[in-house]
Formats: sequence, structure tokens, C-alpha cells
Amino acid sequence: MDVFKIQGGQRLTGTISVDGSKNAALPLLAASLLTSEPIHFKCMPNLSDITNMSKLLAELGCQVKASEKDITLQVTDETISHARYDIVRTMRASVCVLGPLLARRGEVRVSMPGGCAFGDRPIDLHLRGLEALGAKIELDGGDIIATADRLIGATIFLGGPFGSTVLGTANVMSAATLAKGRTIIESAACEPEIADLALLLNNMGAKISGAGTPRIIIDGVDQLGGATHTVMPDRIVAGTWAIAAAMTNGDVKIDRFPLDHLLAVTNILSTVGVHINQTDASQDPKSCTVQVLSNRHLKPVMFTTQPYPGFPTDLQAQMMALLCLSRGNSIITEKIYPERFMHVPELSRMGAKLVRQGATVIVQGVDHLVGAPVMASDLRASASLVLAGLAAEGETTISRVYHLDRGYAAMEETLASLGANIQRIDGSTVVDGLPLVETVSSQKVVQNNS
Ligand code: EPU
Repeated sequence: MDVFKIQGGQRLTGTISVDGSKNAALPLLAASLLTSEPIHFKCMPNLSDITNMSKLLAELGCQVKASEKDITLQVTDETISHARYDIVRTMRASVCVLGPLLARRGEVRVSMPGGCAFGDRPIDLHLRGLEALGAKIELDGGDIIATADRLIGATIFLGGPFGSTVLGTANVMSAATLAKGRTIIESAACEPEIADLALLLNNMGAKISGAGTPRIIIDGVDQLGGATHTVMPDRIVAGTWAIAAAMTNGDVKIDRFPLDHLLAVTNILSTVGVHINQTDASQDPKSCTVQVLSNRHLKPVMFTTQPYPGFPTDLQAQMMALLCLSRGNSIITEKIYPERFMHVPELSRMGAKLVRQGATVIVQGVDHLVGAPVMASDLRASASLVLAGLAAEGETTISRVYHLDRGYAAMEETLASLGANIQRIDGSTVVDGLPLVETVSSQKVVQNNS
């Protein structure tokens, strides 16, 4: 298990570009199960979650051809419809094969995803939506078994106690493309990743309108065909880079920045005192170049995570790391996953002053953070520790870097290209986050090139 070793205090400067979105890509890849024709993807991010999803799709009869940032998928065998526990337990998003397999093959067996590091993550809304389309759902040996002769369009309410469900909306919308008649999803997730999925499905021949709003209408068709699709830029990765620049007094240009999808985040950043400007007004604000400038005189702020277009839960941990360095008290409330605070004790080890009460954390800004050995626990919590390490005085080692490899492609290379002093160390030379030896394997080291 690899470890990141960071010498904090370097100012980040330079230009980077945002990769394709993981959370868009996973349901997009699953949508290729809806046709026997090839689907070509461009700008596919190089992440372990994408490799795992490709492996799962190969098990489900897809031929997968990957080269650099392109992947082509084509179903050649429809006999196996079982997403096994071995794969589902490594990646909850495996559940997005449920809708496409049910719609196309009439049956599917998917291992029920368990809890995750930040609490319960039920899939009752996915199942309720598919049942409304006529599926029969059973649970057997930890697997969900869903069957249907042909799905029938229906009006479905997908709201739950914490808002709508992103992957639930993806599952029901994908399944409804091949249902008989009209489906209306009320209280659908409005996240841009849902609109990106609808764009692909419509290019495959589906009839979907309203994706990106709370009311999606799908008129079922008999079959879908092939398509080519460019995966949208990753708004969470883009937001993470912007916060990294903000925390290091940086001056960073970010290409393919989905400004339009990050207004809740850029609004908080500018309240805090960070400047984010689109450099060329003629570019599409969904994928443009921005300059992020900060002098680290940060003001405190209060924010609450919410479904899109509110502040995304997937950037809560990173923003908390930034606010640790603000001058005053900030208040953060987590409304999507009330237990998503594993970064709190680790940031405290680095000198942050944090008080948690239920789903709220009070951040008392400190003058500086101090490097320490810390432990990554999930993807976004780990990202916040990297950001804290970049700004901290001294050395930070972050163990269990595999969490980061799920959602940030070679994170250390991108940060080093901006001048960060960050190295990936072979975990076999490390015990409990502490390097045993100072020598590191040469091809895994990324030097500070500032
Ligand atoms: N929920 C239910 N019942 C359901 C489904 C969800 O009660 O059937 C609840 C959840 O417990 C949560 C809320 O509804 O409180 C929202 O969950 P949602 O279903 O929208 O989450 P998801 O679709 O499983 C996606 C992202 C997550 C991101 C959430 C929220 C992917 C692959 N994952 O998960 O991303 O946090 O939406 O925006 O798209 C990440 O990238 O680090 C990550 C966790």
C-alpha cells in the first residue's frame, strides 16, 4: 500500500487540466449494457474505479478496448447477469449495472452493497423505482435479484430523507429508456452527471427530456444503438485543485474547469477571499480556463452540503481543510451523509481546531497546520489530508493512498507539476504511515520541479 510523503509550504503555480469525471463515467460505462453496438468514450479518467468497472463489465459480457483516455465497450455475450460481491464490495457504484441489465436482459443479480466508511448508504430508492417499472425484486444470499419480462413506464417519486439519489436516478432513467411507454421521474437528482448520462442515452436513440431538473420524462424505445461520448470534466477534482491553490497562496490556471457546475463552491471561495476568474469569456463555462489566486488571508464562512446545485458533499472535507487556516470560526453542516467526518480527527492531528456536534463541525481557524503521519479513510477525506499536508509546516505522510487512486489520476504528478514537494513511496518501506527508510523506488517518485 503506497504512501504519500509531503513537505509542506510550497506555493502552487502553473497550469493543469481537469480529467473526465469519475462519477459521470461509472453510470456512463454501465449504459453500454443497454445495446449490442459499440460505445466509444473519450476523456475517460485513468482511475482504479474505472478499471474495476471495466472488469465488472467484462465479466458481464462486454468486450473492453482501452487506450490512453479512450475506452470502447461492446456487449458480445448476454448470458451472465451477476455482479459478484467480490467486485461490488470494492466499488459501491457497481450498483449502476442494475437498471441497464434489468432493462436489456430481463434479469439481474447484483450483490447488495454494504455500508461504507461514512455510514449507511441504502439503495431502497433504486429498488422502489425499478419496482414501479414492474420489476420483481427479491433478496437472496446477500444478492438483489430483479426480474421483469418488459418494463412498463410509470410515474416514480425518487425523493428520500436526504434529497434525491444520484445513482438511483441513473439506474431508473437508464432502465426506463427500454420500457414500454412513458416514465416520469419526479424529485430526480439534478446533478450534472445525470444530464451527461442522458446526453449519451439520447445519442444512443433514447427519448429523454428534463435531465438536470427534478422532473425527467423518458419515452421508452424498443432498442438503443452505438454512440461516441466525451466524459464531462470532473467538478470534484476541479474543486479540489482550486482549494489546493487557495491553501498554498497559489496562482494556478486550471483548464477544462466546469465553472458552471461549481457555482456553490466558487461562491464560498470568493466569500473566503479566494479569486477565481474565467480567463476567456468566450469559452463554454461548463469547461473553461480559470485562474485561481489566493493570498491566504482567508475569512471564515458557514456552509451546508446539499444536493446539486448546492454545495457538494464530495468537497466538504477539502473545504474544511482550507477553513482550518481562516481567521475566525467557520461552521460546516453535512446534510447528505451526516457521518462523513473521518477527516476531522486526522486534521486535528495536524493542529486543526475542530469541534464536532452531530452533523455540524465548528472550525476555529489556526495560524498554521503542522505536518504529521495521518491515515486516509475514504476518497475525499484523504484528499483533504493531502491539501492540509501541502499547506502545513514540515512533513506529512498519508497512508492508504489507494483511496485517492480511486478518484484522482496520479494526484502526486499533477501537484508536483505545480511545484508541490510530494512523493509516492512504496508502502512496503513504511509502517503505520512512517517511512522505514528514506530511499524510495525511483519510478514512483515525483520530484518537486518548482
Ligand atoms: N439514499 C437513500 N436511499 C437510496 C439512495 C440514497 O436514502 O436508495 C440517501 C443516501 O444515504 C444519501 C443520499 O440519499 O444520504 C444521497 O445519496 P445518493 O444515492 O445520491 O448517492 P450515490 O448516488 O450513491 C453519488 C456519488 C457520491 C456522492 C453522492 C452524493 C457516484 C459514483 N457517487 O453517490 O460520490 O457523494 O452521489 O452527491 O456518483 C465520491 O465521489 O466520493 C462519492 C461518494
